[in-house]
Amino acid sequence: MTHEIAVIPGDGIGQEVTPAAVEVLEALEIDFEFVEADAGDAVLEETGEALPQETYDLAASADATLFGAAGDTAADVILPLREAVDSFVNIRPAKAYPGIDAVRPKTDLVFLRENTEGVYAGHEDRLTQDVSTLTRVVTESASARLAEFACDYVADGEHDGFSIVHKANVMRETDGLFRDTVKRVADENGVETDQVLMDAFATRVCLDPEQFDVVVCPNLAGDVLSDLAAGLVGGLGLLPSANVGPDRALFEPVHGTAPDIAGQGVANPAATIISAAMLLEYLGYDAESEAVHAAVEDTLENGPRTPDLGGDASTADVTEAIVDRL
Ligand code: NAI
Ligand code: MG
Repeated sequence: MTHEIAVIPGDGIGQEVTPAAVEVLEALEIDFEFVEADAGDAVLEETGEALPQETYDLAASADATLFGAAGDTAADVILPLREAVDSFVNIRPAKAYPGIDAVRPKTDLVFLRENTEGVYAGHEDRLTQDVSTLTRVVTESASARLAEFACDYVADGEHDGFSIVHKANVMRETDGLFRDTVKRVADENGVETDQVLMDAFATRVCLDPEQFDVVVCPNLAGDVLSDLAAGLVGGLGLLPSANVGPDRALFEPVHGTAPDIAGQGVANPAATIISAAMLLEYLGYDAESEAVHAAVEDTLENGPRTPDLGGDASTADVTEAIVDRL
């Protein structure tokens, strides 16, 4: 069966790392049909729309989407794209690889971030010259859906339950509902949980990341804490993510358009290639997914490496090395 894969490179290094990941997928000779579409600052400039309807429709109908990054228009692009795949969870693994000079070389975490609400639900107002407000939305249904996913995720025998990270001591109604709902669903499924306040988590994960494994958290906390974890494992060039919905999913590196290095051909393609490995697993190509993971890990350990990891190789060199190792 042919799978249609939407490819949306976007802006900046999205234009460099997304084709690199497609090159890796093509090397596997799976029956994929790649369909490319535009989104981001450049297409806004051209057409007046950061996310053209045809791009949205493509993501909403393709079996899976690979997205690079968008610049200033990131929120106008990625939030609707996540909605196009009805994604309720953002999976963000943060793993330190052998051979990489990581702050915490034993880090191996997976964030399961609520992906539809919280402070990113968009209810922001400027009331007066002096006052702006934001309404935070948390629902029992979205919290339960995330919790069900988390219970399935840890059911593979490789995890001892998960941590619930929240700030319910202050945000009693919203994070209180989140925490209580996630805990209830976990209890009903016989999944062990512990609870950590998000500020305390930030400190504890820096000092000793090994005490954590799977972390379930609200939207903003997951965004911030996963970038923090990127710092522990060697930088944003290494963090992949998957936005999973009931019928389709969108895969993207955690990083943005990296304007400081865009156009130089030196962006680290690893985050996007690992995102492509997650895409393979999502579509059921487990062996191919593992092969890509292994090729990336081998390349990270033995080189060549891009400048963000202390090397002097280009995006193309690293991609070629990964393809060769497949
Ligand atoms: P960024 O992730 O683009 O860059 C932060 C730092 O990490 C930079 O020094 C950059 O060079 C480095 N970096 C990131 N990815 C790298 C890679 N693959 N290889 C080597 N180095 C890498 O975040 P920043 O600078 O805060 O944002 C730049 C633009 O990206 C902004 O316009 C922002 O709105 C957008 N952005 C878009 C996102 C998305 O589309 N999902 C996510 C985050 C930011
Ligand atoms: Mg972010």
